[in-house]
Formats: sequence, C-alpha cells, structure tokens
Amino acid sequence: MIIYMKILAIETSCDDTGVAVLEKKKKIKVLSDFLSCQNDIHSEYGGVNPSIAKREHAKNIFPVFFSSLKKAKLLKKGKTEINPEIDNILERYPELLEELKTFFFQYKKPDIDQIAVTAGPGLEPCLWVGINFAKALSLAWNVPLLEVNHIEAHILVNFIKENRKEVFPALSFVISGGNTKLFLMQKLGIYKEIGSTRDDAIGECFDKTARMLKLPYPGGIEISKRAKKVKKSRFKLPRPMIRSHDYDFSFSGLKTAVLYEIKDRKIDEKEINELCFEIEEAVKDVIVSKIEKAILEFNPKSLFIGGGVSANKKIQQELKKLTKKHKLQFFAPKYTTDNAVMIGVTALLSPKKENYDKIKANSNLNLND
Ligand code: KG4
Repeated sequence: MIIYMKILAIETSCDDTGVAVLEKKKKIKVLSDFLSCQNDIHSEYGGVNPSIAKREHAKNIFPVFFSSLKKAKLLKKGKTEINPEIDNILERYPELLEELKTFFFQYKKPDIDQIAVTAGPGLEPCLWVGINFAKALSLAWNVPLLEVNHIEAHILVNFIKENRKEVFPALSFVISGGNTKLFLMQKLGIYKEIGSTRDDAIGECFDKTARMLKLPYPGGIEISKRAKKVKKSRFKLPRPMIRSHDYDFSFSGLKTAVLYEIKDRKIDEKEINELCFEIEEAVKDVIVSKIEKAILEFNPKSLFIGGGVSANKKIQQELKKLTKKHKLQFFAPKYTTDNAVMIGVTALLSPKKENYDKIKANSNLNLND
C-alpha cells in the first residue's frame, strides 16, 4: 500500500527561515520551497547574532509560509476556526499572531496531513519561533506535529530522490557553520557519533578567518571563490589534529595561525587569495585524512556529506576521489545550506513519535534523543 501524504516543513534553527511543502507518493516531490536569508543583516557581525536572527524569523516566517502554500496550490478561500490557545503560543510575537489570525479568517485548512519542525540543535530563540508557529498551525488545522533533528536532516536530504539500497553501513559527515560531526550509520535513523570538533566548526572557521581578511559573510563561499583564483600559496598553515588517533577535529588553531600571518601588516589582494587557497587546502587535508582513516577502520559501503560546507567544490572533489579509490558510493546533496526541504524529507523517512506537548527548542539536541 502506498501512503499518500503532504507535509509542511519549517526550519528556523539559525539565520535562514525556510518553509516547504512536500508530497510523498511512491517518491518524494517538492511542491514548494521558500527561504528567507539573513546573510546581509549578519554580515556586519561576521556571524549570526541570535536576538536579531530571532526578530527576523518572526518577521519573515509568515510571508515565507504564505508563499510556500501558494506555490504548492494549497490556498483555499474560507475560514479556519481560531483556537484561543494560539494567543498564548504566539504571545511573544504579536505581529505574527495578527498575521496568522487574519490568514485564518481568509483561508480554510489546506490539504496538509502533517507538520514538521526543527527542534534542534540550533539557536534556541530562533528554534522557538519555528516551533511556536508550527504549534499554532498544528492546533488550528488539527494535524500532527513532528519534531526533526537538524543534523539528521542534513544527512537524510541525500535520500530525497532514490531509494538508496546497498549503502549501509555508511559514514555520514555533517559540516556546517555550527557542526562538524562524523557518524557511522548502520541504517536509516541509527547513528553512532564517531567524531566531532573540539572547538570551532569548519564553517565557523571559514567565517571567522574570512572576517579577519575583511571578506563578506558567509565566509566559506568567499574563501572558496578566492582560492580558485590561484594555483598555489606562499603561506603554510597547520593541519590541526591530522595525526590524532581519533576522528575528532579542531579548527581554532588554524584560525589563530591565520591571525598571526596577517598581524601588524598589510596584505594585498593576491596574498589574500593565496591565504584563502591555503585555508581551504588545510581544511581539505584534515577532512580527507580523517575520512580515509574511518573508511579503513569501519569498511563502510558509502559516504554521505551534508551541511553548508558540503557545497564546497574542492572538498566534494577530493572526497569523491577518495571514495573512488576505496570503492565506496559517494553522495553529496543538492540542498546543502539550511532549508526546509531537508526537514520534510527527514519527517517522512525517519519520523519521530508525534508528541505535541513535549516538543521544545533544544540547542544541543542529540541525534539519538
Ligand atoms: O548548513 P548551513 O547553512 O548553516 C548551519 O547550520 O551552520 O551552513 C552555513 C555554513 C557557513 O559557515 C558558510 O560559510 C558555509 O556553510 N558555506 C561554505 C560554502 N557555502 C556555505 N563553506 C565552504 N564552501 C562553500 N561553498
């Protein structure tokens, strides 16, 4: 029997407000996918400012939600009964509450069977905006609400297209602005964390070193663009923990080494490009060495990557080469940076038990919680 289902997915864990509608028949189809990015706003801080990010989510979530329903052709004129509890749920966001009430006066419950929302890890005030909005919708439309782990979503978005068989055991590597985590995955939904960063995440290292070089945020994209402009570098940066006997990472030393290279002197554009090249090389060397070690120890059938940094072409190319050498399948997602599609895919493929009352923002949500 094919279960037919439409799901509305919401993501607000960091600085992207995402809402998507997915349909599952035999395959998963993305009916709509909208995202509001706050990069320009956080640019001056060189990273995400949580209270500003929360304010922007509260401002952006309704228009993003409305566009997503419209694109999915799910808006139906009519009326939704307003449950008074919604006033309590959204009391911290009075403008959002008004927008939603006006919407309920104009539109009936759409053809949505489930709602999925990111519960963590992420920035707690930001997570709460998505969770409270999702709770208000779930209550008004009387549809189940499922929580999703953001890290699992970065991995499982790789499963959107095909029914991936013969892939387990798999290594899953999540590299983003907030996370650097390596998992051994025995099957869908079963993860063992085998490595993690001891300090900065890879994306954070890119963002912070880019800021030192006065490059725009998010730094990973800019460093990668600049690195492509040169073929070698005069700089030599450390490859932190490359020889450690575990799968952990550390990137704060790399950041400090960059600071020493540029301290008390002016560097020209060519030197900036060469530094970017060397930063990317250092990160890539550490990643390739650790993943190769894990391949040799765990003998996996595949490697999945995910998260914003997995968009990096050099890292993708090198990991592809590595998996070819060891005869593994390699998967990199189309959806790399934060988005709501991955939240919907995860709720459809690896659903957690529905428990409306217990869903709360958890900045450190563990994959096995
Ligand atoms: O997954 P994501 O959107 O948000 C988090 O959950 O953190 O990842 C954002 C991170 C930023 O640190 C950004 O610099 C990095 O991903 N990033 C990249 C690239 N595109 C985004 N890093 C390296 N190369 C890229 N092409």
